[in-house]
Amino acid sequence: MAYAIEVEGLVKVYRGGVRAVDGVSFSVEAQEIFGFLGPNGAGKSTTIKCVVGLLKPTAGTIRVQGVDVHHDPGVVKRTIGYAAQETAVDDRLTGWENLYLQGRFYHLPRAEIRRRGEEVLKLFGLWERRGDLAETYSGGMLKRLDIACALIHRPKILFLDEPTLGLDVQTRKIIWEYIERLREEHAMTIFLTTHYMEEADALSDRVAIIDRGRIVALDTPGALKAGIGGDLITVRFAAEDGELEGVLSAVRALPGVREVKEGEDGIHRIVVEQHGDRLIPEIVAVATRHGVGIASVRLKRPTLDDVYLHYTGREIREAEGTREEIFKSRRMQRRARR
Ligand SMILES: Nc1ncnc2c1ncn2[C@@H]1O[C@H](COP(=O)(O)OP(=O)(O)OP(=O)(O)O)[C@@H](O)[C@H]1O
Ligand SMILES: [Mg+2]
Repeated sequence: MAYAIEVEGLVKVYRGGVRAVDGVSFSVEAQEIFGFLGPNGAGKSTTIKCVVGLLKPTAGTIRVQGVDVHHDPGVVKRTIGYAAQETAVDDRLTGWENLYLQGRFYHLPRAEIRRRGEEVLKLFGLWERRGDLAETYSGGMLKRLDIACALIHRPKILFLDEPTLGLDVQTRKIIWEYIERLREEHAMTIFLTTHYMEEADALSDRVAIIDRGRIVALDTPGALKAGIGGDLITVRFAAEDGELEGVLSAVRALPGVREVKEGEDGIHRIVVEQHGDRLIPEIVAVATRHGVGIASVRLKRPTLDDVYLHYTGREIREAEGTREEIFKSRRMQRRARR
């Protein structure tokens, strides 16, 4: 069976030399929700734009429903829906007018637009507000309208670039529910990009972690987390670096300890197979034997954050910048108004 999306060796070098995507390969199965997770500038939007046929790749092949995007862009465009990172909604039009225009772009008959328009607006909880100007919509409503517009021609595959960027947690959860319904009720394949760990974790069947144009890990959220160990113990020793070597090698030798890594922040991350709670007293005992104190110790189940840190050596949160994001989404909305 053909995959819904197949990308092989995708490279995109922008004019000026920025290598935004550097050899990315992945396949998405029909009706899968596939998440592309990475920090600002990782190459998520560039990848999505290549896959939907808006950017010409420097190298690599892309097939959507078995059709080569490069050879047959028209067929691919009719099969997919795409909601860009910057919403395409026109603020000076009503919700209904936005949707209607989009339907006309696809040359749908008027009666068909009316039928499908009602369906998607109801699906996205916007039916009551369809006659209001989009400039009176909240950020979450605008994003929902934008996704609704991408659905008017009933695509089989939906591409969502940062579907919840800059939205609050409640609004984000509402959008997640809509995305899940699209898959359940309309049998859609969904490819989404995000730099929210929680989003990738909650929504995706599989997640590709992308960093500096490359996929550094790809699996189900559960397998990614299990892959770095059952539990993670973080320890801050009350000692100078030079005094720690004996302790660290003794900790590494403890049964069940898989790996000990020192972060840039001076905190040691101890990856253990299982039962981190039982290992903590042993780690404390080892430190005590070496005359080293412990300033703090924490135990946690791995999150995708830890997976990201494991593969890239950096926290994704550093790149997140909530304030910057909000400014960015405001700017994008202003731009959409013009
Ligand atoms: N049109 C362009 N011309 C030149 N460089 C670009 C262009 N668009 C993006 N880039 C660069 O390519 C890299 C990847 O950008 P891209 O927008 O794909 O990242 P992203 O993962 O979507 O980031 P974000 O989370 O901020 O949306 C960045 O270094 C960016 O500056
Ligand atoms: Mg982007």
